[in-house]
Amino acid sequence: MNGSIANRRAGPESRGDNGQPRFAEFFSGIGLVREALEPIGWRCVFANDIAPGKAEMYVERFGADDLVVDDVNALDIADLPLDLDLMTASFPCIDLSLAGKRAGLAGKHSGTIWPFLDLVEAQCRRTVPPLLLLENVTGFLTSRGGRDLAAVCERMAGLGYCIDLAVIDARWFTPQSRPRLFVTAWRGSPERPADRPPSRLRPPALRRFQIAHPNLPFVDLAVPEPPLRAETHLVDLLEEVATDDERWWLRERTAEAVGSMNPRHRQRVDQLLAGQRDGVATLFRRRRNGRTVGEVRPDRIAGCLRTPQGGSSVQFLVDCRSGEARIRPLTGREYGRLQGAGDFPIAVGDRQARMGFGDAVCVPAVRWLVEHTFLIFDEAVDDSQALPLAAAASLHEPAEHQRELFAP
Ligand SMILES: C[S@@+](CC[C@H](N)C(=O)[O-])C[C@H]1O[C@@H](n2cnc3c(N)ncnc32)[C@H](O)[C@@H]1O
Repeated sequence: MNGSIANRRAGPESRGDNGQPRFAEFFSGIGLVREALEPIGWRCVFANDIAPGKAEMYVERFGADDLVVDDVNALDIADLPLDLDLMTASFPCIDLSLAGKRAGLAGKHSGTIWPFLDLVEAQCRRTVPPLLLLENVTGFLTSRGGRDLAAVCERMAGLGYCIDLAVIDARWFTPQSRPRLFVTAWRGSPERPADRPPSRLRPPALRRFQIAHPNLPFVDLAVPEPPLRAETHLVDLLEEVATDDERWWLRERTAEAVGSMNPRHRQRVDQLLAGQRDGVATLFRRRRNGRTVGEVRPDRIAGCLRTPQGGSSVQFLVDCRSGEARIRPLTGREYGRLQGAGDFPIAVGDRQARMGFGDAVCVPAVRWLVEHTFLIFDEAVDDSQALPLAAAASLHEPAEHQRELFAP
């Protein structure tokens, strides 16, 4: 690890005079929250993450000046700058993810939200940050019967924040299925009427949670409906990888993988070979009945990118454009593109890049939310300025893995 950034303390600093809103990103990883916000006028003045491998990528992109590489539990409020407008936390999902053991916020990974909220509370005693933004998997909504999310919302409400909840799927912006729960909080009282018009951002499971917690200060912010789907498909984001590149699986291995697929997935490979769906798809390897089998996506987008630490493996490409099925892992650059960070510098190897991007946020999804939510705060003094919310819930078809969320 570069010694100049390890354990560096950002220290107090008050607002500069250029008028840009200032934010601190916690669990910053490789910095895709910053990647989302800075082009729309925000200025990152503090970042924190514990992982040196992520920090290496962060520093390559943004420099080391604002980054503190340390355990969030070890941070002291004196490390944070004053006058923050926004504090963000895309905290670890391992204990909330359906794929994990679901220890919830009692788990040592996802439980890092508590030291973050301790810092928010301490910051409130110095200069109150008017805005908070949390991001995590949709399992956060149902973790321990909703008690985990309720406890976080109660803590924020106790500090004087109102709260909005939204589920945003990366597939509305890039060809990747990645539904995530966003918790937006702002200091103020819930003066808006608690009307709850239908919206793709707030599926039935989210509404059930809100109804089950009538004492929490939930307010639907009047944001517009997000795009229905990305303008690009998986094929548009692929790198050219030479046919003799060693990342391609050997013919025998590919034949064995395709041969061991269940008929539905083998048929999908046949369809790719016949030129359907651009001739490409992503493949996940899963354990089914004690053996590992490949499963092919049918819909011209990638499955949710993950990291090996999250309990799942790499995502692969099945490429049939040459008339023959070939398989290789998606590259780090392709992971970056699927997260909407196609220009992000990658000076590390594929494995490290996949770790970084696989665990990151989707840039255009975060940018869309912040642009529309916090734009409202610029003008929101007057409710009539707020953007109208279209009632477009019926336009949305939940994907297979989202059924739990969308079940009425
Ligand atoms: C979901 S990822 C956030 C990714 C990030 N927003 C990005 O765009 O790259 C969660 C991050 O929390 C970090 N993390 C886990 N435990 C931590 C701790 N105790 N203190 C600080 N960071 C921690 C991980 O290294 C990981 O980068």
